[in-house]
Amino acid sequence: MVANAAGIMPDSLKFEADQHFFERRLDGVDVVVHGRHSHERQPRSYLRRRLILTRQVPAIAADSSNEKALFWNPAGASFEQALAVLGTPDSSVGVIGGTDVFGMFLDLYDVFHLSRAPDVRLPGGRPVFPEVPTRTPEEVLASHGLDRGQRQVLDPAKGLVIVSWQRSSKPD
Ligand SMILES: NC(=O)c1ccc[n+]([C@@H]2O[C@H](COP(=O)([O-])OP(=O)(O)OC[C@H]3O[C@@H](n4cnc5c(N)ncnc54)[C@H](OP(=O)(O)O)[C@@H]3O)[C@@H](O)[C@H]2O)c1
Repeated sequence: MVANAAGIMPDSLKFEADQHFFERRLDGVDVVVHGRHSHERQPRSYLRRRLILTRQVPAIAADSSNEKALFWNPAGASFEQALAVLGTPDSSVGVIGGTDVFGMFLDLYDVFHLSRAPDVRLPGGRPVFPEVPTRTPEEVLASHGLDRGQRQVLDPAKGLVIVSWQRSSKPD
């Protein structure tokens, strides 16, 4: 789960080591993509270009509160069109959720960093992918052509582990 049943990421799911990993990775991308209810809330967030998914716009629209952001509705404009309007056509992209947004990009990830906190339970929460819990996140990633890669223990005391799932080859 990425959030509880109320759609909120509780403190029980927030870990310093995970946040540091997240921040380092976001510092390496040109564009962040997320749904309207997600935000990375990092010290350098304001520097990043971003696409915010919403059905409240027909296609692509400016975000009056952030000149580096655009609202994007995939029903009205392609991902490539949205990146072009953002001025970042050949950029590296970091997708940070939530559920439906993570699911939308499953065939495109070069790498997906899946962190797991084994002692946290969020009954009825927001899953990492729409198919979870019918399938495990690992089954979903494997079924979309990603292979289990590097495993890092981020916080041994809390059992927090991150596995980087990699795509060995991309479909034409
Ligand atoms: N633990 C983690 O790693 C992690 C990661 C991500 C999020 N979270 C947490 O999860 C919670 C939010 O997750 P969420 O899944 O409910 O929300 P979300 O993806 O951030 O936002 C959902 C909204 O995004 C828009 N959207 C999603 N898919 C769309 C599509 N295909 N086309 C157009 N618009 C689309 C819609 O906005 P409109 O309603 O405006 O149409 C929808 O209501 C937050 O608490 C966040 O902190 C945690």
